[in-house]
Amino acid sequence: MQPANSLPRVRLLATGGTIAGTQLLGGKRGYVAAALSADALLTAVPQVAQLARLEAEQVAAIGSQDMDETVWLKLAARAQAALDEPDVAGVVITHGTDTMEETAFFLNLVLRTEKPVVLVGAMRPATAISADGPMNLFNAVAVAVHPEMRGRGVLVVANDEIHFAREIAKTNTTQVGTFRATYRGLAGLVHSGRIHLYAAPVRRHTAASDFSLRELTQLPRVEIVYAYAGMRPDLIHAAVRTGAAGLVLAGVGDGNVNAACRAAAAEAAKAGVIVVRSSRTGGGVVERNIEIDDDALGFVAAEELNPAKARVLLQLALTRTRDPRAIQEMFHVY
Ligand code: SIN
Repeated sequence: MQPANSLPRVRLLATGGTIAGTQLLGGKRGYVAAALSADALLTAVPQVAQLARLEAEQVAAIGSQDMDETVWLKLAARAQAALDEPDVAGVVITHGTDTMEETAFFLNLVLRTEKPVVLVGAMRPATAISADGPMNLFNAVAVAVHPEMRGRGVLVVANDEIHFAREIAKTNTTQVGTFRATYRGLAGLVHSGRIHLYAAPVRRHTAASDFSLRELTQLPRVEIVYAYAGMRPDLIHAAVRTGAAGLVLAGVGDGNVNAACRAAAAEAAKAGVIVVRSSRTGGGVVERNIEIDDDALGFVAAEELNPAKARVLLQLALTRTRDPRAIQEMFHVY
């Protein structure tokens, strides 16, 4: 075994979630998210001390349904500060699974680093029977210190799988195998800390990203409007009236909405609101100018990004430009 002081340093940034949750006592259903501290999580997995010297920092203590732009910016700043320390090998972030895909994608676009940044969560609370958090955390640390994981962008580790931030989505409300990489597959597998790499990320990220935390004190407001049979345009009008700079349509099929909503969205685009067409289907690519004349209506096609991730990219894009053609290019690149 390596002497402890020669092990790599890893910063653990804790934000809460079920991985830090405790089950209710007395046979009651439910649990309390974010009840345990970062140090308590590490105490439950003493084996991580064989992999790295962990330094824990509590950035937030929330269920990830309460994650927002303010916490994203704080978390990103703390992660960047750790990554900028020359002898920190990587960063592990504990996070609820509900919005992990959004936080991971945001960090993937703003952090300047080649070092591994690994988000990890759990579907079962820390005190549940067969909690999945301890092994997930052990595997996340193993990924964070592995030299071959450098340059792969922000990663998510859960259920023995390594995922790219851009590719994952939460697909199940309760099962431990909730994360799926619907389009381009897994980054790799990790079994009790042993890593099997499958693929490299295909889109621009981290060190090569044009987005940066510099001078970023808040993010522009972008709303998501979900499409359905019989949809009315009122929520599109409301988003515009209340000051949204961007609008993501979680469209039916190929990112479509009915004629009345298309007209409302086109009116919004004409008024300078950036309208991105994504799909509520959970699979496939929304392409330009197939079912809808994006050129004529001034829309942007989200390609493979689901509505939540399209919103993250649009928020960052709006910090650089309000030109829909330039923003479309960003959806080709990121
Ligand atoms: C949350 O996202 O904080 C709750 C659910 C989870 O962590 O699995």
